[in-house]
Amino acid sequence: MLYRWKVRSLKVPHLNRLWRRWRGWRGDVVGSYDRLPEYIRRHAPGRSFADIGCMWGVNGEYAFLAEEAGATAVKAVDVFGPTPEFEATRAARRSKVQFVLGDLTRAETLARIGQVDVVFCAGVLYHHPSPFDLLVALRQICRETLILRTSTIPEVRGLPNAAVYFPMLDARGRELWNLKSLGLLHQAGISNEFQPSEGYGNWFWGLTPSCLESLLKTAGFRVDFRAAEAFAHTCVCTAVGPALNHALPDELSARQLAEQISASGLARPA
Ligand SMILES: C[S@@+](CC[C@H](N)C(=O)[O-])C[C@H]1O[C@@H](n2cnc3c(N)ncnc32)[C@H](O)[C@@H]1O
Repeated sequence: MLYRWKVRSLKVPHLNRLWRRWRGWRGDVVGSYDRLPEYIRRHAPGRSFADIGCMWGVNGEYAFLAEEAGATAVKAVDVFGPTPEFEATRAARRSKVQFVLGDLTRAETLARIGQVDVVFCAGVLYHHPSPFDLLVALRQICRETLILRTSTIPEVRGLPNAAVYFPMLDARGRELWNLKSLGLLHQAGISNEFQPSEGYGNWFWGLTPSCLESLLKTAGFRVDFRAAEAFAHTCVCTAVGPALNHALPDELSARQLAEQISASGLARPA
């Protein structure tokens, strides 16, 4: 009940502004969508770069920005496009940005991207039903730095790593996550019912910042920088280790493991 009240308050524009001021006063970095170019200009020069989810409403703008900032090679990836605006900008700038049509969580897309030094991914994570798989895919293509911005939900006091799955919530349940008052005119699957035909257009997960950070760590990233907003987070991460990967044993080892498990008597129906 108190949590619903907290979320509702943060959706009121002047209370949201107050929250931002309070977080800034506390010494936290307070983020905004408008600061994304700053992070790209800081990390792209002299490095190879990929923008994952480059198209909707921005027509590859961040990929072109990375190229302008001095990135050595730039790939722009999306499940649709390229738009005419993207093609026009590419021609006008004599740009070498390479568009890759593909779903990042598919092996063939990963193979076409290969590895790049810096990965930028904004506005995509909450649109994927399996955010861990998307983060692992980001890790696979990332040699050094991940700049990730995603929608989040406020932290649940006393329940770290909490998250909300949006599909199938009823109208009252969805209403809590409707951010119209903060200027988001349409959130597929929240403004209306979950739309299977919209695929990744739907909003799937409301991750709390602690859950986001735990997922990033499990996927092999260290979070070096975070900029908080009441309903979004931007993180700059370093690729530090392999993503969690449940190693499948070969058939012989699988049998030996099975014998050991049976002999130990450890396995009981849970
Ligand atoms: C909300 S838009 C964000 C656009 C831009 N990055 C920004 O921050 O303004 C999400 C974009 O990601 C793309 N997208 C969603 N899921 C994807 C996936 N699995 N692989 C590649 N692109 C994806 C969508 O088609 C869309 O263009």
